[in-house]
This record gives sequence, C-alpha cells and structure tokens, in this order.
Amino acid sequence: MEPTENRVAKVSGLTGRQETTPNLSWNKLIRPLFFQLSAETAHYTAMNAYTSLVALPLVASQMRRRYIVKDPRLVTNCFGLQFPNPVGLAAGFDKAGQWHTELAHLGFGCIEIGTVTGQAQPGNPKPRLFRLPADKAIINRMGFNSDGCEFVASQLEKKHAAKDSSCVLGINIGKSKVVPLEEAPAEYKKSFEQLFPFADYFTINVSSPNTPNLRELQNRDHLVDIITTIQQSNEDMAINTNQKPKPVLLKIAPDLTDQQLAEIAEVAIEYSLSGVIATNTTISREGLQTSHDKVEEIGAGGLSGKPLTLRSREVVANLYRNLRGKIPIVGVGGISNGPDAWNMICAGASLVQLYTGFIYGGPSIVHEINRHILSELGKHGFENLSQAVGTVHPGQ
Ligand code: FNR
Repeated sequence: MEPTENRVAKVSGLTGRQETTPNLSWNKLIRPLFFQLSAETAHYTAMNAYTSLVALPLVASQMRRRYIVKDPRLVTNCFGLQFPNPVGLAAGFDKAGQWHTELAHLGFGCIEIGTVTGQAQPGNPKPRLFRLPADKAIINRMGFNSDGCEFVASQLEKKHAAKDSSCVLGINIGKSKVVPLEEAPAEYKKSFEQLFPFADYFTINVSSPNTPNLRELQNRDHLVDIITTIQQSNEDMAINTNQKPKPVLLKIAPDLTDQQLAEIAEVAIEYSLSGVIATNTTISREGLQTSHDKVEEIGAGGLSGKPLTLRSREVVANLYRNLRGKIPIVGVGGISNGPDAWNMICAGASLVQLYTGFIYGGPSIVHEINRHILSELGKHGFENLSQAVGTVHPGQ
C-alpha cells in the first residue's frame, strides 16, 4: 500500500513539486510585492491581474488542472446542495459578484459573494483595511461598501452563462446603513428577491461589526422577524419563478455569549434555517503579537485570520452541541491550513470557508486544504467527510 500522501497526490493529479512551487513564489515574491501596496489597492490590483491572466488562452484550464482536487470523498451534500469539496471562499472578498467565475478556477467548492445591501452605499472612509502580518491577520472596517442589489443582479445576469456549475454560489445579504433596524426585514427581502434567480443559497448577515447596531439583529425578536419575512418571500419566489425555495443560512459573530448562542440555535431550529455560518470577524483584540500602539492606531474594525482560529472553532463546537446535528454549520474564522480546516470539521462544521488565510496563503491554499482533508480521511478510515463532522469537541 502506498503512503496516503502519495495516493492523495495521485487522486488530485498533482505531484508534490507542482504543489509547492506556486506557494513558494506566492510567499517569496508575489505576496511581498502586493504587500507594498495599501491593502485595498492590492486587492483590486491582484484581482485585475488575475482576471486578465485567466482570460488568456489555456490559462484557466491549466489553473483548474493544478488547483481543483476531485475526489468523491470530498463531495459534500448539505442543505440540498452538492458541494464538490467542502472549502469555500468567505463573504467580503467578491462583494459584487464580479470575479466568482474566475475564482472558481482555484478549486473552491463554494464562493459566497457579498455582502450585498439593498441600496448602493460607499462604505466607510478609507483607509479601512489593514494587515497585521505578525499575526497573519486583517482588521477591516469596510462598512458594507456595496453596489446595491440591483446592480449586483445585473452583473450576475451577465456572468450567468459563464458560471461554473459545480462550484456553489452563495449570496450574502446585509442591511444598508441608512435603513433603521425596524425596517431591516423589508431591506433583506428586497435584496433576496432581486438576487433570487442567481443564488444557490442565501446568507443573512447580521454579524458585521462595521454597520452601527447591525449585530443587535442577532437578538431573538429581530431574528425571528427577518427569518420569517425571508421564508415567506422564499415560498412566494419559488412559486413565481418555478424554482425550488433556496436554502437560507444565518451568519453570526464570534463575540456572542453561550446564552446568546443557545438562543440563536433555538431560533435556527424553530424557524427551520438551512444552516448557520460561524463566524464573522471579532471586535476582540486579545492575544495579538502586533504592538498595542499599532493596533490602537488602526482603530475600530473586525479582526480576522489566525487570532480568530480558536474562538471560531469554539463557537462551532458550542453550536454543534446546541443544534444537535439538526442543522449544518459552516465553520469560518482563522483557517489558514489543512489542520485548521480539519479541526473545524471535527468540531462540528460540515463545510468550511476562509478569507484571510487565502490572502496570506495564496492561490494554492484550497488545494492544500483539500489534500490534507483527504489524507486525514484516509488516516481515520472515514469514507466521506460527514463521518468526521463533530467527532472532537474542544473544551469537553
Ligand atoms: C470580511 N468578512 C465579511 N463577512 C460578511 O459576511 N460580509 C462581508 O461583507 C465581509 N467583508 C469582509 C471584508 C474583509 C476585508 C474581511 C477580512 C472579512 C468576514 C469573512 O467572511 C469571515 O467571516 C471572517 O473574515 C473570518 O474568516 P477568516 O478571514 O479568518 O478566514
């Protein structure tokens, strides 16, 4: 019998050398170059360069051959959708749905676009995106810069034909800053209906720390109002468009108490949510290597990346206990390598997502994570991923 690593390499059609080369050039060359630019400029410069590159003949197919890991053990069925692998791109990277078809070449099983708001809005003044390299972290206070749901729908309409049908497309919706909390259900409904034809699933985002008071929508009464409004609209839209209702997920913050988590789990079960995404960024600044002065100078915003790894995993484990396997969890927060993803799955996540780990780890990270998951499945004798979900409970 060959060592698992070799078998996995063959399954994915890659040799070890091919896998390490892009990562080396990312760490030593490409990332340092982009890190010379301000974080937000680097984001758009990198994506413009990447989309131009993959538009060249044969490049997209080469990328797909290099980065996509195809293996039946990775195929994950969740809330009625089939994910080719469990590793997704978290919301915030492709806010307007302009790059999701190109990003699919990097091997993601799912891409969640947004947050899209009902109205177009500029977000907070720049600078609003900061790297903390010593912590492999990011602080952002983007404040839902969004082209608004109508524009995003028109963008998605244009890209619809080019969509990678195997890569699941999630659309994350949020509240515009000027809309008062009491009017949030109608605002979420507006985006939901406008974007309905294009989404494989929807995420109700009530957990960004950068829209004043948004996280109050995580309280039971607000949540119930929003969820019931969306569920009703889901039924209506399904009838009107002759489609099935879309899975609706809720994305929550890592800064909730155990009691709040229990309450959210109760609401999720009672109102038949399709899934819970845990977690968004944190307002905590605990345990950072970056100097206190630098962190103070950056100021407000949500922290993501490595400092979030343990807290997000803890929240996932807590939710897993409260949801009792009735509703799947998408684990996100500080996943920067295969072991982080595997630990998140063992804590209770059926799917994982990442954002900051992709910035620091580069284009080969999804491939690396999927390979690691396959090697862990082999090591434990699991036939598929669902057998690993919730097998280890941190803190118990
Ligand atoms: C985010 N995140 C985010 N989440 C969301 O639901 N809507 C959004 O618009 C954004 N925007 C956003 C911008 C930036 C710059 C970052 C870094 C993050 C949160 C993101 O989806 C994820 O939940 C957290 O970042 C935690 O995961 P990582 O980054 O530690 O893998």
